[in-house]
Amino acid sequence: MKKSNVRSLQVDRLLLDKVIEKIRDELGLSFADKAADVERALINYFNEYRIDALHTKIEGLLQEDLSRNFDLLDHLTISETYFFRNHKLFAVLEKEILPAIIRRKAHSQQPLAIWSAGCSSGEEAYSVAMLIDQLQKNHPKPIPARILATDINQHILIKAREGLYSNWSFRNMPVKYMKEYFTPQNGRYFQIAPHIKKMVHFEQHNLKKGPFPVNENWKNFDIIICRNVLIYFDRETMLNTLQRFHDLLDEDGYFISGPAEIPSLHFKKFKGQLINSVILYRKHIPPVIKEEHVKTARKPQKAALKVIHPHFEHKAKTKEKIKTDAAPAPEEANNNFEELTLIKNLADLGNLEEARKLTQNYLLRNNLDSHAHYLLGTIYLEMGKTAEAEKSFQKALYLKPDHIMAHFHLANLYTFNGRIKDSRMHFTNVLNLIRSFDPQQEIPGSEGMSAFQFKQMVEKILKTSRLAS
Ligand SMILES: C[S@@+](CC[C@H](N)C(=O)[O-])C[C@H]1O[C@@H](n2cnc3c(N)ncnc32)[C@H](O)[C@@H]1O
Repeated sequence: MKKSNVRSLQVDRLLLDKVIEKIRDELGLSFADKAADVERALINYFNEYRIDALHTKIEGLLQEDLSRNFDLLDHLTISETYFFRNHKLFAVLEKEILPAIIRRKAHSQQPLAIWSAGCSSGEEAYSVAMLIDQLQKNHPKPIPARILATDINQHILIKAREGLYSNWSFRNMPVKYMKEYFTPQNGRYFQIAPHIKKMVHFEQHNLKKGPFPVNENWKNFDIIICRNVLIYFDRETMLNTLQRFHDLLDEDGYFISGPAEIPSLHFKKFKGQLINSVILYRKHIPPVIKEEHVKTARKPQKAALKVIHPHFEHKAKTKEKIKTDAAPAPEEANNNFEELTLIKNLADLGNLEEARKLTQNYLLRNNLDSHAHYLLGTIYLEMGKTAEAEKSFQKALYLKPDHIMAHFHLANLYTFNGRIKDSRMHFTNVLNLIRSFDPQQEIPGSEGMSAFQFKQMVEKILKTSRLAS
C-alpha cells in the first residue's frame, strides 16, 4: 500500500529543477533531461509517502552539501564495475603501457603513479595493481607503485578498502589472477591479497570541486584512468575535469577513458593514440608512433586492419578467401578497404579535419558505401557536429539497416537531443540485432565489448535513464 502511494507521488517541478541544478553545481552530474530519475531517487531516499512532508524534506536538502550526503549519492550514482572491465584495455596495459613505463623508470626508481578516478568499489584500481605485481614479481629491483583510487561516495569506498568481493565482480577476471590474488570467504565472497590491497590508497574526492591535486603527494601521474564517469557529467564539468587530468598527468603519461566517453568534446589538448584497438590519450604522441602511422598509410598491415573496424574486417576475410580460391582479387574493394583504414587511423590519431575531408572525397566516388557513411558519422561526432553525425548515421542505416553501432550512436544522439521515442527505438533495434550474436562474440566497432556486455549496457541505459518507460 505504502509502496504504491510512494510511486504515485509527483514532486513539484520547480522544486525538482532546483535539486537538479544543485546536483549539477555540486556533483557535476547532469540530470537536465532526466528529471524522472531524480524524482525517483528522492522518493526512494526519503522513503516518504506524503507529498507535503516530501516537499519539506527536499527543501531541507537544498541547504545541504550533497557531496557529503552518501546515502543520497547511493541513489543518484551508478557504481557498476568489475575486475578487468574491458579486456582489451587491460591487455594493452599489461603488454605495452606498464612495461614501457617500468622500463623508463628503472634507472631513477621513481615510483609509478596511477590514479583511478571514480573508482567505485575498487575493482579497476586493484586490477591495475595485480598487473603491476605480475610484471614485477620476479624483478630483483621492483619499482614501487602508488595507486590512488578516489570516488565521491564514501560508502562505496568502505567496500573498496575492505577488498571483499562477490562472484559478480569477477565476470571478466582471468582465472590465474583469481587463484593467485583471492582467498575464498564463507563460500560466497573472495578476499583480495593483503599486498595488493596495500598498493592502493583510497580517498574520498569530488571531481567536480577538487581539490586538485587530491593532496600534495599526488601529482605527475603516469596513468590516469577515468572510465564510465565522465559520461554522467555535464559538459562544463567534463571539460574542467579533463583539464585537471591534463595538468596532473606526467608529460609522458597516459589518460584512459571509456569507449565513446569523450569523443564529442572539444577538448583538443589530449591527442588520441591507437594501440591494439584501444584509444589512449596523451599530451604528445611520440615521434615513433607517427612513423608507424606513415608506414601504415603507405601499406596497411593485416594486424592494423583487423583492429580498425570490424566491417572492414569482413572485407579482409573476403580478400583471404579469394586468395585461396585463386580467383581474381577485387582490386577496387581492396583499395577502398585500405583507403578507409587509413582514414580511420587518421581520425583515431586526432586528425579529424583531414579525416573528414578524405571521407567526403571517398564518398564522392563510393556514395553507396555504408561503412564510409558510418565512419563519417563517428568523425563528425568526435568533432562535436551532432547534426551532421546524425545525417551520416541515417545514411549508413539506409544502406545497411542492421548496422548496430549506427543504431547505437543515433540512439545516444537522440537521447542527448531529447528525442526519447526515437532513441528508444534505436536502442531496441540494437538489442534485437544483438540477439543473433553469440554472448562472447565481439560487437563490431564497439572497442572490444562482447555481445553480452553490450546488451547489459544498453539494457541498463534503458532502465536507468529517462528512457525507462
Ligand atoms: C560506473 S562507476 C565507474 C567505476 C569504474 N571506473 C569502472 O569503469 O568500472 C562511476 C563512479 O563514479 C563516481 N562519481 C560520480 N560522480 C562523481 C564525482 N563528482 N566525483 C568523483 N566520483 C564520482 C560514482 O560514485 C561511481 O562510483
